[in-house]
Amino acid sequence: MTPARESGRVHIHEVVTRDGFQMERVFVPTEHKIELIDQLSSTGVAKIEVTSFTSPKAIPSLADAEAVMRGIRREPGVVYAALVPNVRGCERALACEVDEINLVMSASESHNQANLRMSRAQSIAQFAPIVQTARGSRAVINASLSTAFGCPFEGALPETTILEMVEQFAALGIPRVTLCDTVGMANPQQVERLCREVSSRWPDLEVTAHFHNTRGMGLANVLAALQAGIIRFDASLGGLGGCPYAPGASGNICTEDLVHMLGEMGYATGVDLSALIEAARALPELVGHAVPGYVLKAGPSSRVHPLPEHSK
Ligand code: COA
Ligand code: ZN
Repeated sequence: MTPARESGRVHIHEVVTRDGFQMERVFVPTEHKIELIDQLSSTGVAKIEVTSFTSPKAIPSLADAEAVMRGIRREPGVVYAALVPNVRGCERALACEVDEINLVMSASESHNQANLRMSRAQSIAQFAPIVQTARGSRAVINASLSTAFGCPFEGALPETTILEMVEQFAALGIPRVTLCDTVGMANPQQVERLCREVSSRWPDLEVTAHFHNTRGMGLANVLAALQAGIIRFDASLGGLGGCPYAPGASGNICTEDLVHMLGEMGYATGVDLSALIEAARALPELVGHAVPGYVLKAGPSSRVHPLPEHSK
């Protein structure tokens, strides 16, 4: 038995309205974003990454961040987070009273430049004042480390690079860190090794794993992370998602598929799978195309079909 099965809940963090929508060509109208988030708030997810306070030129589909953050219903017990790339984004997020500021930077220099147009050193330099500013607010800081399992421009990265970055976050007093597999390069052995290393070096750090299913390894990577004691996972409804500044990026692991798998295996997530599937049904119309998730199409594995006539 892994720790999560013995001791309780696996925390599901829903990222569809941030990671999911940032990649979409269509602008999902603000009121539909709010409606979807309000629906997700009642499913039992632990956290919702509502939006990002980025430059509207860089991520036009999330240009309505303030209106969405201010328009949603806040369900007690759910953490409402927003992605923040710089000091300006932090000020905007704090003005909307987010529960969590999800700072973002990359483990690789090239992806940091492509995505954020600054060096890793410049990103870290912006983190310090943000951490200070957030101290006097309700917002907790999480640092998301993109390309932690490989970079689309540089390939595999030395594990020491990742550990050094986490060390810099810990030194700033950041209590939560997300290890992101931006373009689905991680494999389960690598995941288990890195997650064990990070958890054992920084036992008080709340670690979240963020996988994309770009190469079909997403749920296998979840199992590997669980084996290493990780109990927090980002996932996106319908399996939407991807970084527009990472070539070849595609969807996150799909929330309904993740919750279904964990439920079948006896892990408690606190998430109502039917409510999640119900929420996912709206997605194809919202984004104008079919979504990659499996359980939405196949139904849960408990679903049985009537025998065909010739077998009766
Ligand atoms: N919110 C809103 N606008 C912002 C902003 C923020 N957080 N940060 C910068 N801007 C605006 C500036 O005011 C400026 O506007 P102007 O052209 O009207 O004067 C413009 O964006 C450029 O500002 P600059 O500081 O030169 O930023 P940049 O062009 O170097 O871009 C980022 C840097 C970080 C703002 C931008 O690359 C970005 O938002 N990236 C996010 C990428 C992302 O979310 N990727 C997916 C998630 S991993
Ligand atoms: Zn992502």
